[in-house]
Amino acid sequence: MEEIRELATRFERYSAHSHISGLGLDKDLRAKTVGGGLVGQKKAREAAGIIVRLIREGKMAGRGILIAGPPGTGKTAIAVAISKELGRDIPFVQASASEFYSSEMKKTEALYQTMRKAIGVRIRETRRVLEGELVELEYNMVPNPYNPTQKIPESARITLATKKERRTFSVGSRLALQFMYSGISEGDVIMIDRETGRISRLGKANPEKRYDIDIDDVVERPDGNVEKDREFTYVVTLHDLDEARAKRGSLLSLFSSESREIDSEVRQAVDEQVKEWIEQGIAELIPGVLFIDETHLMDIELFAFMNRAMESEMAPIIILASNRGFARIRGTDDTSPHGVPLDLLDRLLIITTEPYSKEEIRLIIETRAAEMGLVIENEALEKLTEIGEKNSLRYAIQLLAPANEIAKVKNSARIDVEDVEKAEQLFADVSRSSAYLKEWEGKMLL
Ligand SMILES: Nc1ncnc2c1ncn2[C@@H]1O[C@H](COP(=O)(O)OP(=O)(O)OP(=O)(O)O)[C@@H](O)[C@H]1O
Ligand SMILES: [Mg+2]
Repeated sequence: MEEIRELATRFERYSAHSHISGLGLDKDLRAKTVGGGLVGQKKAREAAGIIVRLIREGKMAGRGILIAGPPGTGKTAIAVAISKELGRDIPFVQASASEFYSSEMKKTEALYQTMRKAIGVRIRETRRVLEGELVELEYNMVPNPYNPTQKIPESARITLATKKERRTFSVGSRLALQFMYSGISEGDVIMIDRETGRISRLGKANPEKRYDIDIDDVVERPDGNVEKDREFTYVVTLHDLDEARAKRGSLLSLFSSESREIDSEVRQAVDEQVKEWIEQGIAELIPGVLFIDETHLMDIELFAFMNRAMESEMAPIIILASNRGFARIRGTDDTSPHGVPLDLLDRLLIITTEPYSKEEIRLIIETRAAEMGLVIENEALEKLTEIGEKNSLRYAIQLLAPANEIAKVKNSARIDVEDVEKAEQLFADVSRSSAYLKEWEGKMLL
């Protein structure tokens, strides 16, 4: 028998927070020393756990959270953990405040669009469909009017079967072409939307020949009638709805560029539509989370706009992160705690993060190395821990990958202390690189 080998080797990207899978709390919302890829920082993690509960229970509407603490103490990591805890059902949008400044649109518009991306609408819809196994497909071919040497289907006759019945339909050229181009053939289980004619292929019905490896999903021949009502649910964001409506709006939109501002009338119309759906019981609002990192980059205008927008009934939950103590609010001469205006600060719950102990730094580096599949000698781990304490945790974590490359060049599967030292030599941390440039500046001026 022929052997099947896996050709592609596993290829993974490690982003700064890929080792984080959750907050690592137990049932009583108490933080385990190590959990979800997170180490220590227990108070902040437990607070975040309560926030996750409140969000799930819909009790955080119109409120916000500020995660405040020194650089590298896990603020972004905790926000990522919150998003993991919330799961796929609740929208979570991550943005850096710097993204709001672009030449393409006003900064408040950019912020508002991002806020609306963080609000989901779950829509339920009942549609009339034809569903069954395609047991007969017969095309009626005619010469293509534009190219008579080619033949195209002018119509087709299809027979769909369920366990209960069989029905035959004739379909026009548009549908027949769809059948042909999507490669649907006898034995496929399909579903056709009666109104729009959209065809979806659900899989192959119990094929006689089974292969060990097959690209087709095997599905059963459906029960019941061929023609039936089916309920569909899907989640879109308010921003999706805004865009869809704005496109429908005007001919001009055909000529303008991709990302553009959305009229307030469009948003109003979307809001009214959504409210109507909610009243009719076919839609449900899912307020999600907008996490704005590097909050100190927001200016007074953005803060004021956000503060107002948070009052609307269709506002997401806002999470901010700041590593500033007292700072000037951008666009003013005033300083305030964390560089956030007082009136906004007033409606925020604040979670603080604290610097790590040596033991915690060691554990974080170890967790991270394990997640990357690296083997690291004790002495090397000790050295990295020292670097994490002396320079910064982030720098120590960043040295892991180059140290591993250096080990690989020596044909070693383990990172030893020399590899770490070599990596430290080759890659500067911020204070070293800026000191170096300063020295140069001095020399240039002489
Ligand atoms: N408690 C922790 N457990 C595991 N990993 C952590 C922990 N805290 C931080 N890290 C990791 O350390 C690195 C730095 O943390 P992070 O980026 O979250 O810091 P920050 O507080 O957001 O810093 P800044 O103020 O500079 O934005 C990241 O790779 C992060 O995943
Ligand atoms: Mg951060």
